[in-house]
Amino acid sequence: MAAFPEHFYWGVATAAYQIEGAANEGGRGESIWDRFSAIPGNVHNNETGMVADDHYHRFKEDVQLMQQIGVNAYRFSIAWPRILPTGKGKVNASGLDFYDRLVDTLLSANIEPFITLYHWDLPQALQDAVGGWGSRETAYAFADYAEVVSRRLGDRVQHWITLNEPAVAAFMGNETGEMAPGLRNPKLAWQVSHNLLLGHALAVPILRANSEARTEVGITLSMSPIHPASDSAADEESSRLLDAKTNRWFLDPVFRGSYPADLLEYLDQQQLMPHMEENDLQLIAAPLDFLGINYYFRIIARRRRGGGPFDIEQVQPAGEYTEMGWEVYPAGLRELLLRMHNEYRIPRLYVTENGAAFPDVVTADNLVHDARRVEYLRAHFQEALEAIASGVPLAGYFVWSLMDNFEWAHGYSKRFGLLYVDYPTQRRILKDSGRWYRDFIASNGTAF
Ligand code: FCB
Repeated sequence: MAAFPEHFYWGVATAAYQIEGAANEGGRGESIWDRFSAIPGNVHNNETGMVADDHYHRFKEDVQLMQQIGVNAYRFSIAWPRILPTGKGKVNASGLDFYDRLVDTLLSANIEPFITLYHWDLPQALQDAVGGWGSRETAYAFADYAEVVSRRLGDRVQHWITLNEPAVAAFMGNETGEMAPGLRNPKLAWQVSHNLLLGHALAVPILRANSEARTEVGITLSMSPIHPASDSAADEESSRLLDAKTNRWFLDPVFRGSYPADLLEYLDQQQLMPHMEENDLQLIAAPLDFLGINYYFRIIARRRRGGGPFDIEQVQPAGEYTEMGWEVYPAGLRELLLRMHNEYRIPRLYVTENGAAFPDVVTADNLVHDARRVEYLRAHFQEALEAIASGVPLAGYFVWSLMDNFEWAHGYSKRFGLLYVDYPTQRRILKDSGRWYRDFIASNGTAF
């Protein structure tokens, strides 16, 4: 019988803009998410991250709650505009102090910090001055930000993640406009995707230089298995290209040093090719210690009649769906883990996010009986264990999320937490899923 490895990281994950609040405190500058969510119509109920979970003020209590669940790792992100309120130049000391205290609080609770440097909250000043990630200058500013943060925390932090889901940041931020900065410009979106990878590449050696030798540096990608709806040539080609855009466009340059040829050809035909410079790909391919996988759903792709390769309709098979409208498909996690291992031979993998939104309610007993989330987690951990049994070097798993939070354009309407947050009072209630995770961790992943 396979088992989770001995030093497995049992974690939970969050991101700064989704939980911190205190948007105008401690010298923090404006981020593109502050600007985007202030524009009516962009976010459900016009909600914003101004207060969110008030984690900025309640982080000690939140670390105690993590201890109660028994996690030994916590993935969180740093708000770039707290460190450099205008994106570059002047450093805001109290921003650094906040994360310094958070790291020390975690370490004294025996919880290993995994820090994401960029989880989508770009300083608005960089968007205004140079067009944000549309410009290479932002990649260089990101490297300077990585320098400032790692110089301060590198003596204690041994796990760095440069970027969270560059695909989502690039395409939902700049092609569909569903997320900040809310632009609808396909050509720009491809440029942003490349510049994000450049920023990643420039930050990696800096993070290594400012940390201890055993420190691990990696990137987190959102990944979905893409399955064709039929074996027609059109559906197969669409699936292959959607896989290239969703998965390979980021994996291949980072782990193979080249962009996928089929997609390059398409971009060339459509005049969407991003500008790249001579050494970019070489830099982007510098070896990493790990890949972080965020897994939520698969996509079954059907080409619309008479449409181009990206005229895709998503087929929704019968089955269970979360509040996000995402199919519950645990087998997809094993599929991705095996693919990463077999096709890319990545030295170490983490599931840096996996979880589900369900319509949670507090019942008369003051508890939250989220049986569907328990089942969701159980099934996904089961798949992860099967992958480990097949030889996949999976070293940790971070449930999204520690607590209910600001779910981007969905505002507070989607609850992903192991802790329920009653927003008016900021009271946290451990859901049944949090209790299940606590017992599961205590059993070292044996008590399914
Ligand atoms: C991922 C994001 C994370 C959260 C989950 C539900 O794409 O990285 O911040 O919103 O989805």
